[in-house]
This record gives sequence, C-alpha cells and structure tokens, in this order.
Amino acid sequence: MFRQFCLFLLIYLPSSLAAESAWNGLVLPGSQKSNALFTPFYVPPGAKPYGSKSPLVLYSGGWEEVFSSNAVSKSLRASSLENASVSFPFTGTGIEWFGNRDNRHGSAKVYLDNKHITDVDLWAAGKKTQRQQRLFAKYDLTPGPHTLKIVNAGGAQGSLIDVDAFVVTSGVTAKVRGGKAPVQHLMLRDDAPQWTLRQQGSSGVGAMQLAIISSTHALLVDKVEHNPLDINGHPAWGALYNLNTDAVKPLNMESNSFCAGGTFLGNGTLINVGGNPVVEDRTSAADFGDLGGLQAIRILDPCTSPTADGCDMYENHDRVRTATPRWYNTVIRINDGSAMIIGGSKKGGWMNNATVNNPTIEYYPPKDIHGSNGLPIPLPLLEETLNSNLFPIAFALPDGTVFIAANRDATIYDWATNTERRLPQIPNGVRVSYPMTGTGVLLPLSPDNNYTPEVLLCGGSDIDDTRAGYDISSQEPASAQCSRMVLNDDGIDAGWQVEQMPEPRIMADAVLLPTGDVLIVNGAATGIAGYGNVQNQVGASNADHPVLTPVLYSPSKPVGSRFSSDGLPRSEIPRLYHSVASLTPRGDVMIAGSNPNLDRSEVAYGTEYRVEWLSPPYMQIDRPEILKTPMKLGFGRSVTIEARLPTDIQDIRAAIMDYGFVTHAVHANSRLVYLKCTREGERTLRIEAPPSGDIYPPGPGWLHVIVQGVPSQGVKIMVGDGSSPPVDRDALENILGNTEADQYETSRGGNGFDDGFSE
Ligand SMILES: *[C@@H]1O[C@H](CO)[C@@H](O)[C@H](O)[C@H]1NC(C)=O
Ligand SMILES: *[C@@H]1O[C@H](CO)[C@@H](O)[C@H](O)[C@H]1NC(C)=O
Ligand SMILES: *[C@@H]1O[C@H](CO)[C@@H](O)[C@H](O)[C@H]1NC(C)=O
Repeated sequence: MFRQFCLFLLIYLPSSLAAESAWNGLVLPGSQKSNALFTPFYVPPGAKPYGSKSPLVLYSGGWEEVFSSNAVSKSLRASSLENASVSFPFTGTGIEWFGNRDNRHGSAKVYLDNKHITDVDLWAAGKKTQRQQRLFAKYDLTPGPHTLKIVNAGGAQGSLIDVDAFVVTSGVTAKVRGGKAPVQHLMLRDDAPQWTLRQQGSSGVGAMQLAIISSTHALLVDKVEHNPLDINGHPAWGALYNLNTDAVKPLNMESNSFCAGGTFLGNGTLINVGGNPVVEDRTSAADFGDLGGLQAIRILDPCTSPTADGCDMYENHDRVRTATPRWYNTVIRINDGSAMIIGGSKKGGWMNNATVNNPTIEYYPPKDIHGSNGLPIPLPLLEETLNSNLFPIAFALPDGTVFIAANRDATIYDWATNTERRLPQIPNGVRVSYPMTGTGVLLPLSPDNNYTPEVLLCGGSDIDDTRAGYDISSQEPASAQCSRMVLNDDGIDAGWQVEQMPEPRIMADAVLLPTGDVLIVNGAATGIAGYGNVQNQVGASNADHPVLTPVLYSPSKPVGSRFSSDGLPRSEIPRLYHSVASLTPRGDVMIAGSNPNLDRSEVAYGTEYRVEWLSPPYMQIDRPEILKTPMKLGFGRSVTIEARLPTDIQDIRAAIMDYGFVTHAVHANSRLVYLKCTREGERTLRIEAPPSGDIYPPGPGWLHVIVQGVPSQGVKIMVGDGSSPPVDRDALENILGNTEADQYETSRGGNGFDDGFSE
C-alpha cells in the first residue's frame, strides 16, 4: 500500500518529495525479506514523468486501458495488435519508457523523430511479471522538441506491448554560478599547440571513484543509486569505461560502495574497500538488493581483454573483508605490495566524531604485526584529529614509511615499528581532509636527489570543524592555500612552505602529468564537501561557485611563478562533490562525475554523467613512442627498451607512473618516479628500475619516455616481480573468527549477507 501511495505522489506532486522518491525498493519498506522483483521506475528530481493516461501520449490502432495497482500510474495502456502505435512528443534531452515484461509480451520498434533507432524485446521467461521496467532510454538528444514513437512489432511467443509511463530528462540543468571569465590564450602563437577540452562520452554510473585499469579501460565506482546503466534488471553502480570507444560495461557489484577507497595490490589485482551499509529509510538512495559495504573488499583481478570481456568485481564477505567497518577510509599500497587501510567511520554519516571514529589501520591481506594478529592497530593521529579527518591524504614514502595528513595535522607513520613522527601543523588553520576536502600530491621522485620526498597539499577549508552543519554556509570561502614540505630532517625543520592558488578550491583533484607538472582541476570556491548538511545548499550541495578553469602547478619553477592557467580551457560543467580526474595512458586527463545528491538528480547541482577530456599541448605534436619493453621491471634491474626518438637528442628521461585510485580528491598511490636512463642507440634506451619497493611500491605502473619535456604514451608494466602480497593465514583466520561481517548492519536481519537479489 505504502509503496503505491508513494509512487502515486511521485507522478502528481512536485519534487519537494525528493526524499520519498528515492524509495524504489526491491523490498517493501519495513520488510526484511527480498520478496519482490525490482521496479526500476524512478523520477530524478527535476525530470518530468508522464503517466499512460496523459493527454500528451497519443495512441493509435487499438489500445486498451488496464487498471493495475502495480502500475506506476495505476493503469497502463496495452495493445496486442501488430502495428498499433503510440507517439509521445516531448521537449528535453532524454526519454525513458517504462512498462512491463513477461511471457505474454512481444517486441516493439522504437522511432525517434521519425527515425527507426532500435527494436526492443519485451518478452521475459517465467510467469512473474516484471513491472515498471525501463524498456528503452536515450539521454544524449539535442536539447529541444522530439517525438518518440513505439510500434507493436508482434513476436513469436507473445504480442503484448504496453505503456506505463514516460520520463523526460533535460540533462543536468545546473546553472553555473560564479567562476571567472574564460582565460585568454595570451602567450600562445596561433600555430602553437594548445590545451584543449573535449566533452565526449557518458559514464553511465556516477563517477565517484576512478582508476585506469588497462590501456583500454577505466574503472568507475559509484554508490547504489538510480543510474541509467542497468545490470541484471537493476541499475549498475560500477562500470568499466572504454577509453577508445567511450562504451560503458556495467559491473556486477554486490555491496554498496558508497565512499570506498581502493588500490592495486603488488600482483595487479585491484581492491575496493569499505562503503556504506544498506540503508532502507528515507536517507537511502535506493535498495537494489545490495549488501552492506562497510566491511567489503571488492576484488577486480587484472583485466587484460581489450573489450573487458570476463572482467568483473568479485565479493565474498565470508572470506574476504576488513576486520572493522570503514566508511570514508583511505587505502594505499605499501612497500611489500599489500594494502594499508587507514581510518574512516564505523558507520555512514557526515562529519566524523568520537562515537563513530575508526582511528585505526589494518592491512589487506591482514598482517600479524605489533601483536595485532590481523586486528586493527590504533593510530593516534586519527584519534587526535577529529572532526574533519575522514579520507586522510596518504602516500608511501621512499624509506618505506607513510605520510598521512588528516584535518590540520600530518605525520610520518612507520608501519614496521608502529611509530609516528608528527610533522608541523598545516599553517593558517587550513584543514585538508573530508569534509574540508583538500587534495594532495607526492611530487616527482628522482634518483638525482636520492628520491627526496616532497608533498604538496592544496585547498580545503579553514572552517571550524566543531561548528554544526546548520551553522555552516555553502557560501563560506574555501582555502586557496597550497602547503609544501620536503620530508627530510632539514625540510621538516624548515616547515610548510605556503603558496596561494589563483582561486580557492574545496574538493580539487591534483593530477600528476608525465611532464612532472601537477594539474589542479575540479572543485568549488565556497562551502565544503558532502550534501544535505549546511545552510544555503544549492540543490543538496554543501558547496557552491564551481571553479571551472584548471590551474597548472610547475613544482620546479621558482616560488611565485609556479601557478598558471594560461591557455587552460574553462569547462562549463561544475565538478563538485563526487567528481574525479585521472591521467590516461594517452596522456590526456579524464574528468568525470559530480553528484552532490542522495540519488540521481537533475536539479542544480545535478548528477553529472558527461565525461570531459583535457589534453595538454603535447597531445598535438609528434611525440616519442615506446616500441618495446619487458613486461616486468624487477627492482634494481637495468633493461633496454626500444623507442621512436628524435635523433641527436640527449635530453631524454624515463619515468614510471602510478595514475592512482581516485576517490573524494584522494589520489591514492599517485606517483611519478624518474628512472636512470641512457641513450644507447638510435632507438635504444637503457633504463634502471627503481632500486626497491620503497621507491615504487611493487605493482602495476605506466612507463613514459619524455623527450625535451614531451612525453610518450604510457605503457603498462609490472614493477617488481608481480607476486602476490604476503598472506598471514593466522591473522586472516583470526579476523574471520573474531569479527562479524558487517557488524553494524542490522537492517537485513541475520548476518546481513543474504544475497537477496538472486531469486
Ligand atoms: C504492419 O505494417 C507492416 C509494414 O507497414 C506491414 O507489412 C504489415 O502487413 C502490417 N501488419 C498488419 C497486421 O497490419
Ligand atoms: C556522530 O556521527 C554519527 C554519524 O554521522 C551521528 O549519527 C551521531 O549523531 C554523531 N554523534 C554526535 C555525538 O555528534
Ligand atoms: C593478488 O593477491 C590477492 C590477495 O592475496 C588475491 O586475492 C588475488 O587473487 C591475487 N591476484 C592474482 C592475479 O594473483
């Protein structure tokens, strides 16, 4: 009853009921059992639904009205006559058709603007009717009037087609507020290569997390919500994005990956760690039969197929999970190729606090060190840095220790001895971790200075993190500060060196380029991260004034001339909370995401599926090309590679890069390590691998050759021997024996791991 009432409201009432409209469950509200088929009907706030009875829907050739309490609009129009048709003129950029499928249904021809674009098979095996299914959708129409026409094409096993409802979308309608005028291309001659920005492709799922997994594919991970991309009859919340064709392939994710972290392990397998419980009340985005994600470790084995065939996520929480719940944890790879899992909250929420804080570290695979036998090891930094200390910024350092910044503080954590060396506090009260989200980068490491590490932290906010959400405004300025420090004794004595970005930014992404420069992109000039918490929300966004022009930071230039936006194109797409950016092997930067919303929304700032590609000037000129390399680069080894290189040039560098796993402005593992490199012939270079896993944690990397500042494309190579990280069986069994899977998830009853979706 309640559900019908709810959907009824959806159709006829405005989007002030957005919180209700999020309910679209696999199970009835309050029910513990998965007993119904999923009904994908959903109206994003800002989109317009039309029921089958709408006078704008024009039927011809024999339709009847069928009353059904299970229909979106309480009744549907059905036809069993071949060539019966329905026309629906609408104005927008997207259209969705909803109706039923079962073993009486046939097929339909779909026309858009008088052009036949596809045939839809509505037949489904089994007697059970699948209701409110999205039968057809298209989202990339040019803005303006269009007509959808559906014609009954009959079928061998059934001839029924029906119309329950249409939903018209308009794309993201966010009005861009603030931001500066487009940057003039002042310094560049007309024929000089320039930065370009191209919008192409759709992410299919919210691009909350991003990692390049192969030369052809990027992994996108979202949370459970009503994404347009479907899998197994429900919306997908993970996908593989083809970098060459822009095709997206949905992934079979089992648990809610809302706000997970991730890393590749030393053997090339990627893990995605933590997330959200299943939420079934009005704060829920949706329930698609997902499992609790708080202790999830999702596994994506190396995907070598150029079409991503056979590549999928794997989960088995009975055997593979964290010891404790982690929401907003940071995950990095350390010098033995295993994952260090840092901090987070024990349950979903917003600002961290002492009740939900999980101020500990654990490892995957688990380790028996410091008497832990696999269980979490307390980290004082995370106990002492409440409240704004989620998604700490962390990097493995070239002596095997780990840099961690949380809130206004930073430390060097020696995991082998379980000791911290606390660093000076970040100047001027600037906080750099969620929800005062800054971004961080480990500047390029080079044998020329014996791999002296230097970190750069940019943006964030100096808002007092003890203030309540209702007391903070989306209009309060973010920080423009970048803080840089050399992480050796002298550098730490000298403390943080402060520089100012041209514009303040919260939730920026720092992307290392193969040139050694750092591209700073995305984010907002005011407010803080998250949605639904502060005053003056824009839609639900806690932040406003998107910063639309990227800025390039050149670390080796003198102070005062390091930032430049010369020639950098301004985007028209706000990239706020849940946005990402990563270097691709081609050398351009993939930019996606933005979704400061509970669920897919078209109200400003809406859910953004458009993908952009920012190409540095070097993409337009003749570049060096790596022709032949070994597949593996063992530590300390010297190998020859073949490359197409200009003759007579000696200014040649080689670098191994980790493009990182990007989530919430944390670019985990992001790294550039220069390699000793000598030219031995016209096409031959001798390169020396990093000396050890301290310098480059063992695992996948991308080799680039850089000639006079112009980088080649990246070639994937395994650094180290590619072996799996050490597994301590006792520690593993101790975790499994002494902790419960998803101990904070009760809403599903039992152990929380009934796979409700499979029938
Ligand atoms: C339906 O239309 C097609 C194409 O116009 C025609 O060949 C076919 O005979 C029609 N079927 C019926 C039952 O009218
Ligand atoms: C701590 O955070 C949780 C999750 O956001 C919230 O439910 C709880 O009310 C907070 N507790 C305090 C004391 O603020
Ligand atoms: C890599 O190691 C992890 C952790 O032990 C394991 O789950 C995974 O299957 C391994 N991957 C490969 C490709 O061997």
